[in-house]
Amino acid sequence: MLKLTVIGCTGRMGQITLKEINQNPEVEVAGALTGPGNLFAGQDVGTFIGEGPFNILITDSPQKALSNADVVIDFSRPEAIERNLDEAIEQQKPYVICITGLQASQQKKIEKTASHIPLLLSPNTSLGIAVLKRLALLAAQMLGPSYDVSLLEMHHHHKRDAPSGTSLSIANDLARLNHLKHNVPPYSPLSPRPAGTIECVVLRGGNLTGDHSVILSGEKEVLTLQHRALNPSLFAQGAIKAAQWLYGKPRGLYTMDDVVELAL
Ligand SMILES: NC(=O)c1ccc[n+]([C@@H]2O[C@H](COP(=O)([O-])OP(=O)(O)OC[C@H]3O[C@@H](n4cnc5c(N)ncnc54)[C@H](OP(=O)(O)O)[C@@H]3O)[C@@H](O)[C@H]2O)c1
Repeated sequence: MLKLTVIGCTGRMGQITLKEINQNPEVEVAGALTGPGNLFAGQDVGTFIGEGPFNILITDSPQKALSNADVVIDFSRPEAIERNLDEAIEQQKPYVICITGLQASQQKKIEKTASHIPLLLSPNTSLGIAVLKRLALLAAQMLGPSYDVSLLEMHHHHKRDAPSGTSLSIANDLARLNHLKHNVPPYSPLSPRPAGTIECVVLRGGNLTGDHSVILSGEKEVLTLQHRALNPSLFAQGAIKAAQWLYGKPRGLYTMDDVVELAL
């Protein structure tokens, strides 16, 4: 069985991931890392998630949490990543990064780290989103510059970053096409929308797991590609699949496209 350490184990996604690992006969929990000084450190992680003792204690020590892992899954926060990546390099552990809202300096650190260990970076670990990204690129390419491209997303009100990592990743893929640009300054609602820009619209509310739409609007038709995540366990299952795929791979930076064999 593949041994997995979960970083961010006391958070929403961390707890869901631990439950999914416990229900999956191919993997087991090897460690559980929480933030420095977290009140749950020292508790049995299985008891903490309501599934009975796993004989593994929640810790705030990256060194302890990673020591028994074959692969690490990180659902913590951007500010935590640098220290935890350093420990993964030290212990030579493959690492799946599921965090979103990463700053440019943190992205750079990830790229550097990938020359030391196998790293998989995915702001969205669902198979459907990997397919949506591929379809969006194909649609924008086929329809060309006369169609405006808009990304619309809605998530639960706890989400800390906007636009979502998934929207940014779709926009970055689309911006590879010659006729589209991302990161343009916001345009005035009183002037016409500039051609060739990717518009990102963000909604937050309630407990919604995550909806993403790519809308291509022409003069006489609108094409909408939509993905709806129905349950956050989807992302945990995808992260586990990514960890299984990453184990044994050479050092380097991978994405979910590699896992689902949809390399663009
Ligand atoms: N890739 C995907 O498919 C996917 C899907 C859903 C969410 N996400 C992303 O996953 C991340 C977590 O989401 P969430 O909703 O679970 O957030 P959350 O509930 O805020 O959980 C984050 C957890 O990380 C812990 N943490 C903070 N610093 C840490 C450190 N240095 N080491 C280890 N753990 C630390 C926090 O503990 P304290 O409370 O003690 O600080 C908290 O328990 C977000 O970036 C989110 O956007 C990705």
